[in-house]
Amino acid sequence: MNEKQLRRLCGVARPACLQIEVHALCQQPRLLAAARQLAIPVIAYSPLGSKMLAEVLASKTGREYPDLLQLPVVQRIAAKHSRTPAQILLRHTLQRGVAVIPKSTDPNRIKQNISVWDFELSESEMSELGALDRGEAGRICDFSFFVGMNSHPEFPFKK
Ligand SMILES: NC(=O)c1ccc[n+]([C@@H]2O[C@H](COP(=O)([O-])OP(=O)(O)OC[C@H]3O[C@@H](n4cnc5c(N)ncnc54)[C@H](OP(=O)(O)O)[C@@H]3O)[C@@H](O)[C@H]2O)c1
Repeated sequence: MNEKQLRRLCGVARPACLQIEVHALCQQPRLLAAARQLAIPVIAYSPLGSKMLAEVLASKTGREYPDLLQLPVVQRIAAKHSRTPAQILLRHTLQRGVAVIPKSTDPNRIKQNISVWDFELSESEMSELGALDRGEAGRICDFSFFVGMNSHPEFPFKK
C-alpha cells in the first residue's frame, strides 16, 4: 500500500493497522508519517530483511539483496551494546514507533528477538541507522513474484 491508497482507504473505513515492509534499508518515512497523522498503528513485516525471500528473489532476478545482519553500522552498534545485529534492527524499528513481527524457527532466536526492551539506542545511533535507508530501492518484497502485478493500476510501488 502507498500513502495515496491509505488516505483513500481511510475515506471509506479506518483500518485497525497498517502492515508494511519496514527495515533499515526500506524505512518508509513518508508512509509512516501519514499513518501517524491518521492515527493508524504500523506493523513491520520482514523487519530483519527476510533472508529466505531475498535469496529466492535474487536467484530469479539477479538483483543483490544486502544481508541486513551483516551491515557494518548494524554490527558496530550491536558490539557496542553487547547485543546481536537482529536485536539492533528490531530495536531501531521499535524506537521509530513501529511494531515488528520477525519470523524465526529457532527457539534461541525467538527469545533473542523478544529481548529488546532493556536497552535503548541513542539519538546518534538512530541517525546512523536512519542513514541506511535506500527508499524504494531497499524494498525486498515488491510482490514481483506475482506475474503482471506491477502493471496493475493499483500496483503500489511505482518507482
Ligand atoms: N503481510 C505481508 O505481505 C507479509 C510479507 C512478508 C512477510 N510477512 C510476515 O512477516 C513476518 C516476518 O517476515 P519474514 O519472515 O519475511 O522476514 P524476517 O522476519 O525479516 O526474517 C526472517 C529471517 O531471519 C532469520 N532470523 C530471525 N531471527 C533472527 C536472529 N535473531 N538472528 C539471525 N537471523 C534471524 C530467520 O531465520 P531462522 O528462522 O532460521 O531464525 C529468517 O531467515 C512473517 O511472519 C511473515 O509471515 C508478511
